Amino acid sequence: MELIYKISKVLIEAGKIILAADNINDNITQKHGTANFVTTYDLTVQNFLYHRISDLVPGAHFIGEESTENRMELINDGINFIIDPIDGTTNFVHGYRHSAISIALLRDGIITAGLVYNPYLDEMFYAKRGEGAFLNKKSIHVSDRQLHDGLVSFGTTPYKREYTEASFQIIKKLFTSSRDIRRSGSAALDLCYVACARCDLFFEVELSPWDYAAGSIILEESGGVISSFKQTRLPFDASSSVIAANPNAYRDFYDII
Ligand code: IPD
Ligand code: CA
Ligand code: CA
Repeated sequence: MELIYKISKVLIEAGKIILAADNINDNITQKHGTANFVTTYDLTVQNFLYHRISDLVPGAHFIGEESTENRMELINDGINFIIDPIDGTTNFVHGYRHSAISIALLRDGIITAGLVYNPYLDEMFYAKRGEGAFLNKKSIHVSDRQLHDGLVSFGTTPYKREYTEASFQIIKKLFTSSRDIRRSGSAALDLCYVACARCDLFFEVELSPWDYAAGSIILEESGGVISSFKQTRLPFDASSSVIAANPNAYRDFYDII
């Protein structure tokens, strides 16, 4: 059985932990930054994934959002998994039902596969390098919409309020140049929504590798473009700005901003 299929089965099981969660508000701890929370469920899902995926790929190295022992210097060596156990923790805490589990597989520093699973809708987005991107086994592609006919989503970099002005200046310009804007609360799903043409462009002033690693290969394999604002490749051992879009909307973004 193919590894990506086995991992997708693990994600579906992990999704059940999210769906069964109760008393979430009694299980919250504050992290660094503004309104940045971790719940016991983030930790439970991460531990579950570490445990189950180590069984599938012995010797693999893990980088997880909730881990205090991330060894970023090993990112270019052998097999690494970059994991966000719950992308959209604020949504999760508020019962907003729009969160996902995100996992990317890297071989010697290159992402070779990514999966993003939304347990609320039972939607599994995945991609393998060179083999296209899929949503629940159906091939997905970005739209070809220009920005003026498109839907734009963005992230507010909520834990670093010093970026508020920068984010909202950009979104104001994009709002007046597009059909409308959205802010979903899960960057991993935002990237997948561009990949499957539900949305046409996404940006956020700063994200971490676990927010965009899996989504980035899903987006690229669906025909989209993803980069930092400076149009450089996204790093997987440091945080970065992110712009992701279909190729037409990506060009329009740089004409407008
Ligand atoms: C956050 C979400 C959110 C984005 C933040 C991320 P988390 O991840 O992806 O949409 O705006 O910048 O940190 O904390 O819910 O895993
Ligand atoms: Ca995240
Ligand atoms: Ca998270």
